[in-house]
Amino acid sequence: MTDNIMNDITRRGWLVGTTAIASSMMMARGASAQTMINMGEPVSKDNPIRYTNNENPYGINPKVMEAIIEAYKKAHLYNFTTRRKLVKIISEIEDIPPECILVGAGSTEFLMATGALCGIAGGNAVVPYPSYAAVTRYVTRFGGQVIEVPVREDMSINLDDLRQAMTDNTKLVYISNPNNPIPNIVEKKSLEKFCLEVSKKAMVVIDEAYYEYVRNDDFSTMAHLVKDNPNIIVLRTASKIHAFANVRVGFAFGHPDTVKLLAKFGSNTISYPAQIGAMVSYKDKEYQKFVVDKNYQSLEILYKMFDELNLPYVKSNANFTYFNAGRDAKIVRDKLLESGVLVGRQYKAFPNWVRISTAKPEEMDYLVKIYKRDFGNI
Ligand SMILES: Cc1ncc(COP(=O)(O)O)c(C=O)c1O
Repeated sequence: MTDNIMNDITRRGWLVGTTAIASSMMMARGASAQTMINMGEPVSKDNPIRYTNNENPYGINPKVMEAIIEAYKKAHLYNFTTRRKLVKIISEIEDIPPECILVGAGSTEFLMATGALCGIAGGNAVVPYPSYAAVTRYVTRFGGQVIEVPVREDMSINLDDLRQAMTDNTKLVYISNPNNPIPNIVEKKSLEKFCLEVSKKAMVVIDEAYYEYVRNDDFSTMAHLVKDNPNIIVLRTASKIHAFANVRVGFAFGHPDTVKLLAKFGSNTISYPAQIGAMVSYKDKEYQKFVVDKNYQSLEILYKMFDELNLPYVKSNANFTYFNAGRDAKIVRDKLLESGVLVGRQYKAFPNWVRISTAKPEEMDYLVKIYKRDFGNI
């Protein structure tokens, strides 16, 4: 049975659909499977489908890929001007002044800078737990402390809990919105109030890595706050919706003084091809919509299974979901991997909960078949 399912998913050839985008994708070289390291080879334990790192299963927009390849013809030359053009494009899309935008090699560059600033000052960082841990690593590496504030029982980030955890020495408050691994959000009005109030005492970093996926009226970016508030930083990344995880482009939005401060940590870290690629990718809204639509289709496939099997889950505002498998998440991960299904790692706060990143809908069907076979009746 496993073999049949695996052959089936391998044979299907990773068709992406019948839209105009899909056909242009199929024409572009390499625009088939993006979810395995060894594309075209059978799904296996050693070549699993990746439902694990919140990546974009469709890969880089073919138009963008062409632009990147073309840009490599000039990549032997240093380039000091293209970044300004990219900033201008982002400024127009986001309606933020160019002097409030900094480009980096992914948003991790800014998680490092803000974490390092907190650590070097000997301060502490207040962060929800569980959440994306990059910033906390840099706080501790540079000598600071981390105060983790557990999410509530319903898995929500409670802003009052964060406020209460702050001390006189708190230099940084980090919120990933949507959160990760729990793909819920903080309500926009209360978050705005929190940012304005807390930024009087500490730097507030709002990490909006999954911003483009959110379809929720209670959500808003906090980007509009940065212009007038030197202590508020909003982070974005091209790693997710734009599939730039290993191209490395990200943005910090901040007050001009804050941008200058963060810029001290960077040194022209973004390659010319990456910048050209980002310029084309951010302008192509059609591809982004395609990716988000597919994401929600994939999520629906998972929700249906969770409902059928009575498994509690968090409705996603991002490209992954989190569900209670009712058993040790490590056991679930290991068992699924035997059939080439690689899901997220265990988080100690919720040992029975598993994070699943969305892959293509047909790959979600495969996961469902395997999951039901392995765990459906137990
Ligand atoms: C919340 C969050 N922030 C930042 C990142 C990393 O982004 P980048 O690739 O831009 O460094 C991730 C990656 O998974 C993430 O989940």
